[in-house]
Amino acid sequence: MKITNLGTRANASFYVACELYKQMSQQSHSKLGLATGGTMVDMYQFLVDLLHKNQLDVSHIETFNLDEYVGLDAQHDQSYHSYMNQVLFKQYPNFNPSLTHVPNGNADDLNVEAQRYEDLINQQGPVDIQILGIGENGHIGFNEPGTDINSATHVVNLTESTIHANSRYFDNENEVPKQAISMGLSTILKAQRIILLAFGEKKRAAIEQLTQNEVNSEIPASILHAHPNVEIYVDDEAAPKS
Ligand code: F6R
Repeated sequence: MKITNLGTRANASFYVACELYKQMSQQSHSKLGLATGGTMVDMYQFLVDLLHKNQLDVSHIETFNLDEYVGLDAQHDQSYHSYMNQVLFKQYPNFNPSLTHVPNGNADDLNVEAQRYEDLINQQGPVDIQILGIGENGHIGFNEPGTDINSATHVVNLTESTIHANSRYFDNENEVPKQAISMGLSTILKAQRIILLAFGEKKRAAIEQLTQNEVNSEIPASILHAHPNVEIYVDDEAAPKS
């Protein structure tokens, strides 16, 4: 695992957008694991810009999002379906909608949906590049502290800390869904290459825990020590001080 401080959010976002662009331009049938959240917004903007400038054909690129809230309609403005449409798929409509996957958080049977999503990734994968953000509590995807290291895609009860952190995207904390469907830790580790982005002082403690070089189930992101090909890019504020 290599942690690199690229100074600013803009530098790191542009760098990661270039890595995704390169992957897609070198392999037209690439599989990408995508994340949502505030951290990713600039990265997607740079990516959309690169795609437009170069008119890259992405019609065979297949994408798998990490997670989706339970109980939000796909059209809800805070659903991760909507997020992805807003930041990427509508901005560059050459993506084939039948190849852009996000778990269905409104499925009648959530466990069946989680299994379907896991099976899909296993059939179509492995993912070439998995993009990750990180929660203040060290979660990746919505794998909260204590998640089983062998977990596959599953239904998650969000912790108070995550509900509070994500309430900034909703009118109030009561509106934040209490559950999500998330790729599991073992699902994430199947990717060939993993790139994690973290910005701002609030993420520094979680990043510092990763420098301790050991897997600790209280810091789900520490599972990344078990993967041979992980890069972490941070800005000055999220860079470890210790
Ligand atoms: C999003 C995801 C989460 C976020 C994390 C950070 O798909 O899986 O793990 O990456 O909660 O969120 P932001 O970027 O909003 O701070």
